[in-house]
Amino acid sequence: MPQLTLESTIYTMDQLSVMPKPQVAMAGRSNVGKSSLINCLAGRRKLAKISSSPGKTRSLNFYGVSPGEFYLVDLPGYGYARCSKKEREKWRLLIAAYMEANSYLKAVVALFDCRLTPQMLDIELARYVTAMGVGLIPVLTKADKCKQRDRAKIQKQWQELLDLAKPPMCVSSKTGMNRDRLWTLLGAAAGV
Ligand code: GTP
Ligand code: MG
Repeated sequence: MPQLTLESTIYTMDQLSVMPKPQVAMAGRSNVGKSSLINCLAGRRKLAKISSSPGKTRSLNFYGVSPGEFYLVDLPGYGYARCSKKEREKWRLLIAAYMEANSYLKAVVALFDCRLTPQMLDIELARYVTAMGVGLIPVLTKADKCKQRDRAKIQKQWQELLDLAKPPMCVSSKTGMNRDRLWTLLGAAAGV
């Protein structure tokens, strides 16, 4: 399994600099499980900080993948109602500044909680990534929380809603479900 090493933490736009390696970013609502998925992929419990309350990740965190030589980038979540409007706007602008005109960004893993009903923000994320011409890797998180017999229906619902060619893959950071498949997709997206 590849190793992950935290190489850069970015809080503000003026800290953004070109990181000259292919990049795949993790995006989605606060609490959907982005940082947990980084830990799952790394096979480590405390690499990325996670929390049961939303709004934990407050910076862009670049994890170097080796072997493979690309970055996995953990992003702050969107749609976190309890932080101030000003702070949410700051993160939105920081994420947009990072994503736009970044030729190293190869794909965005868009995470959706398999237990929650889709929101406009989720659809907007998928559209935004696609409109930028960047690869979209949709995944349904916390699949361990969802009954096996319901999974196919939920996958189909998200597939239709997001107008995807294939249903999104179910993952679980708790059980490691589909971790190896996701690694394969990440490597392919990064072109390594
Ligand atoms: P922000 O940084 O706030 O945007 O959140 P995040 O998307 O990084 O979520 P995080 O990884 O911090 O996880 C949020 C909560 O969901 C934590 O309590 C995790 O333990 C839980 N969680 C994440 N992934 C899974 C999963 O696959 N299964 C289950 N059962 N719980 C999960
Ligand atoms: Mg996080």
